[in-house]
Amino acid sequence: MAALVNRSGRPDWSIDQNWEGYSKEEHGTWRTLFARQAKLLKSRAAPEFLDGVARLGVAADGIPDFRRLNDVLGKATGFRIVAVPGLVPDDVFFEHLANRRFPSTCFIRKPEQLDYLEEPDIFHDIFGHVPLLVNPVFADYMEAYGKGGLKALKQGALDKLSRLYWYTVEFGLIATGDGLRIYGSGIVSSKGESVYCLDHEAPNRLGFDLLRIMRTKYRIDAFQETYFVIDSFDQLFEATRPDFTPYYETLEAQPELEAGAVLPTDRVIHRGTGKKRRGITRPSSAASP
Ligand code: PHE
Ligand code: CO
Repeated sequence: MAALVNRSGRPDWSIDQNWEGYSKEEHGTWRTLFARQAKLLKSRAAPEFLDGVARLGVAADGIPDFRRLNDVLGKATGFRIVAVPGLVPDDVFFEHLANRRFPSTCFIRKPEQLDYLEEPDIFHDIFGHVPLLVNPVFADYMEAYGKGGLKALKQGALDKLSRLYWYTVEFGLIATGDGLRIYGSGIVSSKGESVYCLDHEAPNRLGFDLLRIMRTKYRIDAFQETYFVIDSFDQLFEATRPDFTPYYETLEAQPELEAGAVLPTDRVIHRGTGKKRRGITRPSSAASP
């Protein structure tokens, strides 16, 4: 990744959102994206995500003011959104999460980028990530991930830990009584992938397996070839509670797996046909998604 430049001037890279500065057109872009996803996700997103959207309450009418979101979020889980200009270095990102702060971009994509942009924008960061931060178990997971990230940095294991973030926080699915649902932020903020991940026959859908996930490469430029399915957020939190140091050592001795691989040990929910569908998706990035 190219070196990031701190345009904030503060050591934590934070800036002011300057909510008053958004144009009418920018609020309109948010409303378009919000309406589109709300409709698609009603029957596709995890109940916990939809509950978070409802509780945040302010999201339908335009780009949200972080101060208003923080009132709700702070009371629910003690998490707080801080504005940043764009991608931040890994240590800065982890430090924020470890202290229950979620760094969010402030800019919104241009009207001609509704379906795809390369970097996370405010729609991805806020609509995609913040609803689940209202959930106490998921909020604890994000804080633990931040602490784990600081440790993984020192241990040279960030490649492995980043895959966990990718396949859970960004692209995770969850099993419910009504079938598979989406909770990953990279999916909920993408029109195409919201449908593809659940309805298309091409990708694999496999049961969550922590060490296996940390060996699995991922695509950042196309729809995923494999989605991992958790049974509950408690399962995710409990599985990631142990010290990862011995896991990293074990993984060091094992080969990486291709994104589309299926192993005899996998719990296969759906074996993908692998038929490539060229897709455009995902406003988020590798190490600090
Ligand atoms: N328990 C992990 C460790 O010791 C940290 C972690 C928690 C990582 C939650 C990811 C998610 O490294
Ligand atoms: Co993201």
